[in-house]
Amino acid sequence: MQILIIHGPNLNLLGEREIEIYGNSTLKEVNSYIRKYAKTKKIKLKIFQTNHEGKIIDLIASHRKWADCLIINPAAFTYYSYAIRDAIKAVNIKTIEVHLSDIKKREAFRRNSIILPVCAKQISGLGKDSYIKAMDFCLKDK
Ligand code: DQA
Repeated sequence: MQILIIHGPNLNLLGEREIEIYGNSTLKEVNSYIRKYAKTKKIKLKIFQTNHEGKIIDLIASHRKWADCLIINPAAFTYYSYAIRDAIKAVNIKTIEVHLSDIKKREAFRRNSIILPVCAKQISGLGKDSYIKAMDFCLKDK
């Protein structure tokens, strides 16, 4: 199982950004937590963070033959990036949308993901365990 993980905009600031919402783990800590779990399941991982929409699109396209599964936290792009939605739709990779916070319990604009219709599942509100649950979902039906 080869999984591509993409963290979207502002997630580089985890650990200092709105810690009451996102917790105090840094992205580095979240990634090592993810890697540790992946190792126990023999999952091969590639993890990226970018603040740039085009870079996310390029990563999805360039890993289309490599990735069995895509776990993406599109962050604010969740609500308006039709380009990322099209990029996911364009490739044949099982995709899971994840969020650290529970986007259903926050501002109204966060309730409607335009990415979700091209994903197999959305996992939200479990903090860094959202990524763990997503990896388990990747392994299902494999
Ligand atoms: C987020 C939730 C989004 O609404 C927000 O724009 C983010 C992070 C999360 O992981 O909880 O940047 O995707």
